[in-house]
Amino acid sequence: MKNYKCCSPLQILFAAVFFLSFSIKLSAQDGEKLFKQNCAVCHAAHTDQMLTGPGLKGIFDRAPKGDWLKKWILNNEKLIKGGDAYATQIYAKYGKAAMTVFEGQLTDADVDAILTYIKTPPVEKVVTGGPAAGADEGVAEASKGGIEPIYLILGSIVILIILLYALRGVRHSLQNSANRAEGKEETPEVSFFEEAKQWMQGHRRLVGVFAIIIVFGGMKSCWDACYNIGVYYDWKTQKGYKPEQPIKFSHKLHAGDNEIACQYCHSSVEKSRHAGIPSVNICMNCHKGIQKGPQYGEKEIAKIYEAAGFDPSKNTYDPSKQNPLKWIKVHNLPDHVYFNHSQHVVVGKIDCATCHGNLKEMTVAEQKNPLTMKWCIDCHRNTQVSMEGNAYYDRLHAALKEKYAGKYDVKFTVDKIGGLECGKCHY
Ligand code: HEC
Ligand code: HEC
Ligand code: HEC
Ligand code: HEC
Ligand code: HEC
Ligand code: HEC
Repeated sequence: MKNYKCCSPLQILFAAVFFLSFSIKLSAQDGEKLFKQNCAVCHAAHTDQMLTGPGLKGIFDRAPKGDWLKKWILNNEKLIKGGDAYATQIYAKYGKAAMTVFEGQLTDADVDAILTYIKTPPVEKVVTGGPAAGADEGVAEASKGGIEPIYLILGSIVILIILLYALRGVRHSLQNSANRAEGKEETPEVSFFEEAKQWMQGHRRLVGVFAIIIVFGGMKSCWDACYNIGVYYDWKTQKGYKPEQPIKFSHKLHAGDNEIACQYCHSSVEKSRHAGIPSVNICMNCHKGIQKGPQYGEKEIAKIYEAAGFDPSKNTYDPSKQNPLKWIKVHNLPDHVYFNHSQHVVVGKIDCATCHGNLKEMTVAEQKNPLTMKWCIDCHRNTQVSMEGNAYYDRLHAALKEKYAGKYDVKFTVDKIGGLECGKCHY
């Protein structure tokens, strides 16, 4: 057995699997993946759907030519501060929403790969039936992505084991003919597993290393699965949900055309975890006077009166006839998740539209984001905590600055203040 030690088939097997998994990992770092990791939270690559940032369809036509796109993607702040015309224009156009700075995180080659991915729209995939039909781009892309690396690795392990088995037979008969030539006894046939066991006993350290790799790999995929909850099943999330409400209430008409502030109706959004849905009394503040609407005339507004027990002909209320409106909740987090509006809106200074889309253009309120754990976490990884001028953070900021002074160009994203800890979001 000794003479096989330097390159026994089992060693070749392990080495091959190791390099194979390694190279698959490298080749998967393509534009699509990079885009999904870094940009997809805020941009749709091939449509003009508005997320936090604009959809990137047609970007090569509207953005300045040359290496503008590259400069923008690596450091948009620099371009905006430098007064670049197009940069300042889009910055203003999208409500001064900040795009992440990627300098230091992405290389030039990464950006090229991302741009190539944006340039080449995925082949249209026809989805037939099922809840995924007509779903968003994310679903189509998730089902597109070719063979999973894990199947490639498993497949190659199986092939290598078969090869190994065959080679072993050949080796055994070669050994025996050599033995016969030298007049020695034939080596008895040892079972494959027996041989593997002997080999492993002889290579404890190597086996140990692989065991560790496998255990950690397993833990990593558990974590990923956990973290991605809801993502592979995007159709299961309620994104795009817009139930019909008891009254045809339009945000476009109220918050858009008539510019009524969100807080006028969702008055607890800055003070508590719930934004709150206005009671019928709030509607009556205006609708006691406004008895006709532009689209439905008196029909829909009459439902407000019915709920309030109000008789417009007599201008009186009858409390015994009150009948609260039963609005259907659009956004629903499971009970085990804790989400707090005031923390995001007041402390985090996040605009409603970042999470809810532009209500000012919706006639029917619709859920625009998946509300999965990945969605929360991706934002926590990417969004910098706005500490400046925020008394709550003055001390923390000073301490962090001191801790990292001159060492790194650290970004204080939400994950750095504990935004990925399970207990922060889960009861
Ligand atoms: C945190 C959200 C966010 C992330 C992450 C993000 N962007 Fe943006 N991006 C924006 C916003 C918002 C704008 C609009 C301009 C502004 O407000 O600064 C924008 C603008 C752009 C534009 C110009 C769009 C136009 O219509 O002219 C391009 C191109 C772009 N982003 C590419 C990328 C790429 C590529 C990535 C990933 C490497 C990325 N962005 C990641 C938010 C983001
Ligand atoms: C005149 C009152 C009024 C104003 C102003 C208003 N809303 Fe609403 N909003 C409502 C009512 C009533 C509902 C419940 C009915 C519905 O879902 O359409 C609602 C529902 C919502 C929902 C869905 C809640 C759920 O069930 O999950 C969101 C999100 C929302 N509003 C955000 C906003 C934002 C953002 C603004 C400002 C741009 C705004 N609203 C302005 C009255 C108002
Ligand atoms: C960081 C993301 C985020 C921001 C910013 C945000 N919301 Fe929400 N909003 C949510 C989530 C998540 C829910 C679902 C909460 C639940 O089911 O417990 C929600 C639910 C709501 C509801 C339903 C009622 C309730 O309180 O659950 C209303 C109304 C609402 N948001 C209005 C607003 C308004 C108005 C603003 C801006 C002033 C705003 N939201 C900002 C994420 C956000
Ligand atoms: C701050 C004032 C204000 C409040 C509060 C308010 N509305 Fe209105 N509402 C208006 C105005 C302004 C119009 C448009 C009237 C017009 O254009 O003729 C309107 C129109 C309407 C219409 C008619 C739509 C149509 O096209 O026919 C409905 C229905 C309506 N509101 C429902 C509600 C409900 C339900 C509430 C409470 C959740 C509410 N409004 C709260 C100001 C208000
Ligand atoms: C658009 C970006 C964004 C999204 C989406 C978002 N968050 Fe946040 N979240 C923030 C920011 C910014 C802060 C930091 C606020 C502050 O300064 O305390 C924060 C803070 C928090 C904190 C406090 C963390 C700490 O360490 O104090 C919790 C809990 C939290 N978010 C839960 C959620 C949950 C649950 C969701 C998904 C339903 C979610 N967030 C989605 C941006 C986001
Ligand atoms: C930033 C907020 C946030 C953090 C941090 C977070 N979660 Fe979640 N988690 C969520 C949200 C939101 C959901 C609901 C997703 C959905 O309904 O699709 C969820 C769902 C889950 C579920 C699925 C439960 C079910 O009903 O299917 C599990 C399990 C889970 N989280 C475990 C964890 C663990 C373990 C950690 C820590 C490593 C963690 N979460 C950290 C926000 C968070």
